Amino acid sequence: MNERDTLCVNQNGQLEIGGITLKKLSEDFGTPLYCMDQTYIENMCAIYDKTLKTEYGDGLICYASKAFSCKEIYRIVNCCGIGADVVSGGELYTALSVGFPAEKICFHGNNKLENELELAVKNNVKYIVLDSYTEADDLDRICQKYNKIQDVLIRVNPGVEAHTHHFVQTATVDSKFGFSISSGEAEQMVLSAKNKKNLNLVGLHCHIGSQIFENKSFSLGAEKMTDFYKLLKDKHSIEFDVLNLGGGFGIYYSNDDSKKTCEEYADYIKNIAQTLNTAIQKKGLKKPFLILEPGRSIVGEAGVTLYTAGRIKTIKDVKNYIAVDGGMFDNPRFALYQAKYTVVVPEKMNVKPSVKYSIAGKCCESGDLIAEDCYLPEIVEGDLIAVLSTGAYNYSMSSNYNRNLVPPVVMIKDGKAKIVVKKQSYDDIIRNDV
Ligand code: LLP
Repeated sequence: MNERDTLCVNQNGQLEIGGITLKKLSEDFGTPLYCMDQTYIENMCAIYDKTLKTEYGDGLICYASKAFSCKEIYRIVNCCGIGADVVSGGELYTALSVGFPAEKICFHGNNKLENELELAVKNNVKYIVLDSYTEADDLDRICQKYNKIQDVLIRVNPGVEAHTHHFVQTATVDSKFGFSISSGEAEQMVLSAKNKKNLNLVGLHCHIGSQIFENKSFSLGAEKMTDFYKLLKDKHSIEFDVLNLGGGFGIYYSNDDSKKTCEEYADYIKNIAQTLNTAIQKKGLKKPFLILEPGRSIVGEAGVTLYTAGRIKTIKDVKNYIAVDGGMFDNPRFALYQAKYTVVVPEKMNVKPSVKYSIAGKCCESGDLIAEDCYLPEIVEGDLIAVLSTGAYNYSMSSNYNRNLVPPVVMIKDGKAKIVVKKQSYDDIIRNDV
C-alpha cells in the first residue's frame, strides 16, 4: 500500500481514508462503495499545475476526465484552476452542466459524432482535436453554420512504443488514433487543415499511451513532436502556438509498480518540461503553449473500492475464492487488462496475511475477478475487503452487466464524506426499458 496522510492505518489497526475509517463508511453508505479522497485529487491538481508553470511556463493541465467523470469532479478540478479533456458528448455535457469553463476544455475522439461536434462548437469549447479528414470537413461545415472560427489541433501519431499493456498503447504504427508522422500522413493533414476556412489550426496533439513509467518514453514523444514542428517550419513555414503531449503517467497499483508521493509525480512533468525547453532552443522553435492531460495519476490513487466478503469457496490444494458484492460491473480492469491491485482488509490491517485468496465478483462468468492470488488474513463472510487505487477507470468503466447496480461514489475530505454519485436502484435499471 502507498500510505499517505489521507490513506493510513490508525492506532486501532483500521484503514482510514481522508480521516474516516472504511468501517464507518461502510456503515453509513453500505457496500459496494467507491470512496474518493478529495484532498489527494486537489493535491495532485495543484502540484501538476504549479510544476507546469514553474518548470515550463505558459500552459494548461487538462484533467483527462475519462478516468473519472461526474459533476463533482469537474467542480473540484475547476476550483483547482486546471482544465479538462473530454472524449464524448456525455463528458462534455456533464462538464458544462456544472459551469466548467469551455475555454479550458479540449475535446478528443477518433469518431466524434455530428451532434457531439455541434455541442462543442455551440458551447465555444476551446480546442477540438481532429482525427480524420472527413471530421475536418464536417467541423468546418458546422462552424460555418454557426459563423464561428474554431481552434483545432490535429492528433498525430509519433510512433513511440511505450512499455504498457497493448490495449492502452496508442502511438504505435497500427494505432486507430492519429496521423502518423513517419508515413507523411500527418504532414498532409496539416496542409489540408490549414486550408479550412472556419478552422484555425493552432497546433498538434499526441498521446503515447497510459500507465507508462519510463520518462524516456515521454521525452521521446516530445522530441519527435518538436522534430515534426521543425520540419513544418523549415519546409512549409508553418509555426504553431500550441503543443499537447497528452497524459499517461503510471501510478502505483501493486508492488510491481514504484511508489511515489504526490510531489514525486511532478517529476513526469519536470522531465517533459526540461526536454521540451531544450528541444525548442536547439531546434529554433517558438515556445508553444503546453497542454498535458493526466487522468489516472490525478484520481487513481485517490480511490478505494469497498466490498463485503460473501461466499468463500475453498478448492482444496487449488484455490480459495472470496466472492464480493461487486465485480466486473464496477471494475472491469482485471477482465480487460489482467490489471493488478492491492487488496487489504480494512479492519485487520495489523493482522498478518496468512491465506492466499482470489477475489471474485458476483457476475455470471469465470473471468469476473478483481484480483488473483492476494495474501490476506483469514476471511469470514461479512468482512470488509478494500481494493486500492481504483479511482481511475473503475467508476467510469462501470456497467449494469447482469443488471447489477453501479455502486455510489462518496467524496471524502477532512473527515467528512458526501455522496457525489447516488446509488442506483432497480427502478433506474428498468427506466429506459419499453
Ligand atoms: N489524453 C488522451 C488523448 C488519452 O487518450 C488518455 C487516455 C489520456 C489523455 C489520459 O491518460 P492517463 O493519464 O489517464 O493515463 N481504460 C484504460 C485506460 C485507457 C486510457 C485511454 N486514454 C485503463 O483502465 O487502464
